[in-house]
Amino acid sequence: MKPSSEDGAAQAGGPWEECFEAAAQLALRAGQIIRKALSEEKRVSTKTSAADLVTETDHMVEALILQELQQRFPSHRFIAEEAAAAGAKCVLTPSPTWIVDPIDGTCNFVHRFPTVAVSIGFAVNQELEFGVIYHCTEERLYTGRRGRGAFCNGQRLRVSRETDLSKALVLTEIGPRRDPMTLKLFLSNMERLLRAGAHGVRVIGSSTLALCHLASGAADAYYQFGLHCWDLAAATVIIREAGGVVMDTSGGPLDLMSCRVVAAGTREMAVLIAQALQTINYGRDDERPLTFMGSQTKKVLLTPLMRPARPFRVSNHDRSSRRGVTASSLQELLTKTLDALVIASGLVTLVLEEDGTVVDTEAFFQTLGDNTHLMVLEKGQKWTPGATYIPARQLPKRQGIARVTFDLYKLNPKDVIGCLNVKATMYEMYSVSYDIHCPGLKALLRSLLLFLSHTAQMTGQCLVHTGTYMLRVLADTEERAVPSPRPRRGITSG
Ligand code: IPD
Repeated sequence: MKPSSEDGAAQAGGPWEECFEAAAQLALRAGQIIRKALSEEKRVSTKTSAADLVTETDHMVEALILQELQQRFPSHRFIAEEAAAAGAKCVLTPSPTWIVDPIDGTCNFVHRFPTVAVSIGFAVNQELEFGVIYHCTEERLYTGRRGRGAFCNGQRLRVSRETDLSKALVLTEIGPRRDPMTLKLFLSNMERLLRAGAHGVRVIGSSTLALCHLASGAADAYYQFGLHCWDLAAATVIIREAGGVVMDTSGGPLDLMSCRVVAAGTREMAVLIAQALQTINYGRDDERPLTFMGSQTKKVLLTPLMRPARPFRVSNHDRSSRRGVTASSLQELLTKTLDALVIASGLVTLVLEEDGTVVDTEAFFQTLGDNTHLMVLEKGQKWTPGATYIPARQLPKRQGIARVTFDLYKLNPKDVIGCLNVKATMYEMYSVSYDIHCPGLKALLRSLLLFLSHTAQMTGQCLVHTGTYMLRVLADTEERAVPSPRPRRGITSG
């Protein structure tokens, strides 16, 4: 059946009729463009992560939708995915507000995987009035209007009435982040549902279309951390109008800006899912003006701030198992250490193997040298001094002049004195060399003066380097002389 915004008598009339019609028509127009572009070459860039993609079609379609709506409804406000990525604020005020995702399932779109949608939601007084989602390749138009039901190409939608998690088909999406801790939590949430007996967990690459499957009763529940208000707005009305519930992962009321959701055909099912989940914190859409900048800008801004991974040695509490791991942050070190030492429990304490000092803050972790030896203590285990521990001290960096060489040579056999080359090599840095040409007396004098000025510069350099070196030696000596008692506190992971 071909899509149409005529969804029967139940959808006709009402205060936002004109807006609803405009949304449906625009979704169909945008869908045509996306369908055509799906099989063509695309220019792809990244946004908040390497898996968060955007193409010129996302921008083009968003511009088309926003321009048209702005012309027709100049007093309305707009929240749109690519505008937000460029730094626009996502604030839902009482004014009539359009919430637009030009292509939901951009990663699918990039790979020509035919599950992509246009999503347009509309809220007034911070309440969602209607939602329109167009499945571009299957030409299915999903609509929902508050109090008027939900439809797909004119067919009424109804959610499943399943309440038993052990008979449920559950949908989810991965979200944009791929750091080890997020992935661990994502997979562990999936595992929890499968262990609870769910028939299956599906990931189709488009939150809005997954939510539409839920609205049509083809799945029993949906949950996700890391989706945005433009993924959720239109779908929320459609699900509610199909008889389902949409709530926060805490079990409380839905917060459109909180980047997390549980939806299900029944409240019982939604609560069971919410209870099983561990939270993955993605922040809020209305509190991130700087994290969503254009891809190029973001790359340039973030690169110097990212710390490189450094090597560490880790052992278990009785030092019977030792591994080498690299990490750039305390959290990464913890995650990798648990993996390397095959420790299942998430509740561990990380201490310095040398003296049992607890490493419980990122700031302290960053002061540790490369190859520092660390120990993981599980619940009930205590640090004990090791018999053969040799602290991995780094050799102090050597600074100042390493070597000075003098070379006498003649450019011309008739030269009276010839030339003198003086070369000073600094540790790990550079060498400075100067040639004194002395064919005659006047030239000799000039060369001498130049040599003196050059020597003065070098002496300055040497003083700076020697001063820095002496300060470091003094600081090291003081540190060793005064052993500072360090507090013991626990740190938890997981
Ligand atoms: C994304 C997709 C994806 C989901 C992300 C969404 P986009 O939307 O729906 O499946 O995991 O959380 O943001 O970026 O393709 O519009």
